[in-house]
Amino acid sequence: MIDLHSHILPGVDDGSPDLKTSLKLAQIAVNQGIDKMLLTPHHMDGKYINNKKSILAKTASFQSELNSHDIPLEVRAGQEVHLNGNLLTAIEQDNVLFADEQHHYMMLELPHNEVPEYTNDMVFELQLKGITPVVVHPERNRGFQKSPDKLYELVDHGCLTQLTASSYLGGFGKKVQKFTNDIIKAKLGFTFASDAHNLAGRNFKMKPAYDLLGKNDYKLSMKYQQNAQSIWNGKSIQSFNISHINSKSRLENLIHRLF
Ligand SMILES: [Fe+2]
Repeated sequence: MIDLHSHILPGVDDGSPDLKTSLKLAQIAVNQGIDKMLLTPHHMDGKYINNKKSILAKTASFQSELNSHDIPLEVRAGQEVHLNGNLLTAIEQDNVLFADEQHHYMMLELPHNEVPEYTNDMVFELQLKGITPVVVHPERNRGFQKSPDKLYELVDHGCLTQLTASSYLGGFGKKVQKFTNDIIKAKLGFTFASDAHNLAGRNFKMKPAYDLLGKNDYKLSMKYQQNAQSIWNGKSIQSFNISHINSKSRLENLIHRLF
């Protein structure tokens, strides 16, 4: 199993605070069946800058620690790249890390409260460079919650999405869980990842999430896992037959906004 989104690199952002915690988290991941993990510290989100060079060095050092503690986990340096006006410059300056070695897939985070007006233009610019954005945790983004059609539009334009495993299990509340289900049903989700941060709160929920999805739709659960592999390997992904998120959900959102 591949996890494309995690904050277990020790001491770099709001994730794992130290090596001891990171090793414990890695062991939990391995126990769930995860054997490859993209380490994705926050980058350019207004709070954290985690430059490529530094993350590469820290990832190499963490891999050595994993090896010496006999934890069979392959880690790769990545970033949770925040959408911002300097993104194209950062790419030109070779300060961005991708999910795959071919630099086809970027784990892209949108601001939590909105989908900025320039998102579609930025996505187009990235696509011109041969980069496919993988929009992380859209189910937790208030902009998509208010206007699910914005998510449809991004996927229709060729973006992929990564849902948080714990969102599917209800870890972020019923509203987020329902929206996760809506996204999955509309075929606007592509894979699960943990977004694991720490031992107490946001931890690995990958196996239970895939188990539950497998119970509801076995083929889709397999497809989600294959998609994670394709992203990791820089291979292309077949798009789904997508649909708009159902009108009931839009009506509920409208009611939610009015009251
Ligand atoms: Fe994250």
